[in-house]
Amino acid sequence: MNQINSRISEYTKEINQADFRNAEELETFRIRFLGTRGILKALFAGMKDIPVPERKAYGQLLNELKALAEEKFANARSVLDTPRSSPQRGDLTLPGTAPPPGSRHPLSIVHARIISIFEKLGFGVAEGPEIEDDWHNFTALNMPADHPARDMQDTFYLSRDPDLLLRTHTSSVQVRIMEQGKLPIRIICPGRVYRNETVSARANCFFHQVEGLYIDQQVSFADLKGTLYYFVQQMFDPVPAIRFRPSYFPFTEPSAEMDISCLICQGIGCPVCKQTGWVEILGCGMVHPRVLDHCGIDSGQFSGYAFGMGTERITMLKYGISDLRLFAQNDLRFLRQFAGTY
Ligand code: PHE
Repeated sequence: MNQINSRISEYTKEINQADFRNAEELETFRIRFLGTRGILKALFAGMKDIPVPERKAYGQLLNELKALAEEKFANARSVLDTPRSSPQRGDLTLPGTAPPPGSRHPLSIVHARIISIFEKLGFGVAEGPEIEDDWHNFTALNMPADHPARDMQDTFYLSRDPDLLLRTHTSSVQVRIMEQGKLPIRIICPGRVYRNETVSARANCFFHQVEGLYIDQQVSFADLKGTLYYFVQQMFDPVPAIRFRPSYFPFTEPSAEMDISCLICQGIGCPVCKQTGWVEILGCGMVHPRVLDHCGIDSGQFSGYAFGMGTERITMLKYGISDLRLFAQNDLRFLRQFAGTY
């Protein structure tokens, strides 16, 4: 009897101390004590072996133990069934779940790269407003009133009076810096620009540019070429060939466009380079004296060069991206490919 009594008091202790974190643990408890092949069933079955004088007291003990187990089960069941207002604390000994590493947007990566290349040459970064006026975006840059770029088809106008528009290039920032009159000037202007274009794989109504401006005494076209050649060497791997073609911009004279040999097909000819083996990456030239005069800089004493490139175009060539719309769609499958790149 002593042995049996001590077993019962052990079970009593076990039931009292039982603690359930979830329904599975409670179910294990139920099967152990109250199941058809559980402890209580076995104890009741053993009653027939107890000497008659003690059988009654023993039966009472078993009934108490059973009631205790049932009560414990019912209480725990109702606690687990009650919805919690605060989240469960969980198992604090488990290792934490690390947040997945983020990634920079490819355009930000390329902007940062371009900035660091030009910083090594002594260029500073200048920024300006995306909402501009006609003077800074067009007039100061020697764009006549009838210039096609001023057309409503190409430019988003916001209001006539005051005259406001979304800048079509970051040359407007260069005007603002020149107007400050601190010479020499050596800046690059990264930023978002807007044009009224039909959205396609090759064009969007907004995109990004990095424009550069260097103004000092005796700046020459050779300086411009040397700077841009250095930029291409630092930017692309493998280093492509470059060529300059004469071009026209109202704010530079002479003007040129710079091509690099196509990085997609290695110059053999493909849809990206339209089978020519060359891709245009930027416009450039010597700052038109009239632009310097408009900004209060003595064009007899100072000269300078300017250039402007599309960040999307450079990024597409560098990473082999074929559709410009990907940059603005926030598709994580696209963006995650740049994780770990800075
Ligand atoms: N502003 C021109 C554009 O947006 C690029 C450019 C800048 C060309 C400077 C020449 C010199 O297309």
